[in-house]
Amino acid sequence: MNFQLTEEHFAVQQAARDFAQTELLPGVIERDAHQKFPTEQVRKMGELGFLGMMVDPKYNGGGMDSISYVLAMEEISKVDASASVCMSVNNSLVCWGLEKYGSEEQKEKYLKKLAVEGIGAFCLSEPEAGSDATSQRTTAEDKGDYYLLNGTKNWITNGSTASVYIVIAQTDASKKHKGINALIVEKGMPGFVVGKKEDKMGIRGSDTHSLMFTDVKVPKANRIGDDGFGFSFAMTTLNGGRIGIASQALGIAAGAYELAVKYSKERKAFGKMLAEHQAIQFKLADMATKIDAARLLVHQAAWLKDQKKDFVKAAAMAKLFASQIAQDVTTEAVQIHGGYGYVKEYHVERLMRDAKITQIYEGTTEIQKMVISRELLR
Ligand code: CAA
Ligand code: FAD
Repeated sequence: MNFQLTEEHFAVQQAARDFAQTELLPGVIERDAHQKFPTEQVRKMGELGFLGMMVDPKYNGGGMDSISYVLAMEEISKVDASASVCMSVNNSLVCWGLEKYGSEEQKEKYLKKLAVEGIGAFCLSEPEAGSDATSQRTTAEDKGDYYLLNGTKNWITNGSTASVYIVIAQTDASKKHKGINALIVEKGMPGFVVGKKEDKMGIRGSDTHSLMFTDVKVPKANRIGDDGFGFSFAMTTLNGGRIGIASQALGIAAGAYELAVKYSKERKAFGKMLAEHQAIQFKLADMATKIDAARLLVHQAAWLKDQKKDFVKAAAMAKLFASQIAQDVTTEAVQIHGGYGYVKEYHVERLMRDAKITQIYEGTTEIQKMVISRELLR
């Protein structure tokens, strides 16, 4: 693994840092308070190429590598994890899945737009099928030249703002997970209704919704891959998605750490700066070490993916570890801020709330351990 970033990597990192500071930071507290989706900011992210970073330029993407992607994700997540989850889903679940497995017609029709404007959604979870993702209740009945889609999806990121939804559904229950399909559903298809918005602990700017499908006719041309490929599609896509969420967790931790360092150099207690107390120095040392270790795991997973090597275990390890240290580091950042850390103005309380979701979505901590141990023992 090459630890040296290229000039292009540094340029992407700087562009993402500048964007986060100038465009995301100003309204982030208000968006969190009012559960407001960062519409204008996401539009600008599209203009700057952050929504389709790894997509081939022939489909309007940035043609960048996964290292560039995780660098940008880290910078944006330092400031606004609601914006970065939108970016992560669009890049690594929707665009990646379509580019890798979609037909040429699907890429022309959907990917080209998603890579510049977004916004896509990835719809696997259901009220009774979260971790146990093979237990799909949503059905896609084969009707010849179309599928009849019925069921409910839960917790869908970009649920109301997306224009394109990749929906996983069961076509032939007798074949279990080999009878599942992945279908491209457009907003506005008759019978498709966006349900209620969730009132969440963190990533409150992200629009998480349930989705209802009643006799939605989805053309056969909208199926991704062969009949029965849907579960494999979902799992393979999630392997890459987990690198995105790991870099989100890393960014949340790094953002909180940077604020804690700054504050410890500004605040005095017992006649000297907080940063001059050894107990605070040791906290910062622990936080920085955890962040560096997480970054190495994230970059390893991204590098393996770029090298077209097996990255399943590395991605799960990166997500498992980065999401854990995001809890530790954000909690310590609040502690270092004392009472000021407990109010919204200082940002670290939001980062602490935002950190928790990284242990839940795209496979919980327990599911990552399942993936890692299966890889270790097979
Ligand atoms: N990569 C590729 N294929 C995989 C895989 C992986 N990581 N994990 C499982 N599979 C394949 C298996 O090889 C198997 O296929 P074959 O029979 O063809 O070999 C098939 O999937 C079923 O696997 P298992 O028999 O192991 O199934 P299981 O039911 O015991 O467990 C699981 C599977 C790994 C637990 C899986 O259900 C899982 O990953 N659950 C978590 C779901 C999840 O991550 N949801 C995230 C939703 S999206 C989201 O959350 C987005 C967001 O927030 C922003
Ligand atoms: P459950 O599966 O019911 O798990 C409950 C607890 O039991 C967890 O701690 C879990 O780890 C544990 N557990 C379950 N099975 C086992 C086991 N075998 N061994 C040990 N422990 C186990 N999904 C999408 O498809 N698309 C999205 O865009 C999306 N966005 C989301 C956004 C948010 C804000 C949230 C909250 C969720 C989102 N999800 C999305 C859903 C998310 O992926 C699921 O919540 C997650 O996979 C867990 O499923 P569950 O909530 O049903 O919990």
